[in-house]
Amino acid sequence: MNLTLKIWRQNNAKEQGKMVDYKINNISPDMSFLEMLDVLNNELIEKGDDPVAFDHDCREGICGMCSLFINGEAHGPDRGITTCQLHMRKFKDGDTIYIEPFRAKAFPVIKDLVVDRTAFDKIQHAGGFISVNTSGNTQDANAIPIPKHDADRAFDAATCIGCGACVATCKNSSAMLFVSAKVSQFALLPQGKVEAADRVLNMVNEMDALGFGNCTNTGACEVECPKGISLENIARMNREYLKASLK
Ligand code: SF4
Ligand code: FES
Repeated sequence: MNLTLKIWRQNNAKEQGKMVDYKINNISPDMSFLEMLDVLNNELIEKGDDPVAFDHDCREGICGMCSLFINGEAHGPDRGITTCQLHMRKFKDGDTIYIEPFRAKAFPVIKDLVVDRTAFDKIQHAGGFISVNTSGNTQDANAIPIPKHDADRAFDAATCIGCGACVATCKNSSAMLFVSAKVSQFALLPQGKVEAADRVLNMVNEMDALGFGNCTNTGACEVECPKGISLENIARMNREYLKASLK
């Protein structure tokens, strides 16, 4: 396949960026999207040009690092996958592909397609954990009976990989889907109940302080989420927040 790539290039958060055109030839439909970018970067390096900076780590849909907006969609045109799982067979010979970083006030661009998602870490630090006594008398988690339905829903919430596609997709740059997944994975389990009120208040307050927008129930986040995190989690977080506020 021969393709035209229009890629966002930006030196740092302070400088303005712009779309730059690149031609790339002989791309196999079996290549992953990131392998295609690797080919482009090899060509740029051979010419002495600056390679395109983009984030990646596991390249198997686990780490949440690959964060590209491709042809106007977070993680590209496929559903239920991350950018690293996207393959070039989704595109046609002669296509023009627009590649941009995830855009949100709380995710400033570091360089080109790499954004700073430290804001997600800060929300996690505000309450996305349980405090467990590890002095030797910790109760074995398997000894605590948990209804299968609750365990399944907690596990589904825990599959959020913190990629930020929900924020990048949302017209309000809301982080509600991410935060609600992190709140829900504990709210549904007995181990998470002890600190539930502080957790939801602290995480939501941190989310607001970091400049994420509000949820207006559009649902785009659920559509673009590579892990199929359900909007049900946002409803649960709102209930948890109300309960905690009235205490
Ligand atoms: S909720 Fe989905 S889109 Fe948002 S960070 Fe988690 S995995 Fe990514
Ligand atoms: S590189 Fe890890 S999820 Fe894509």
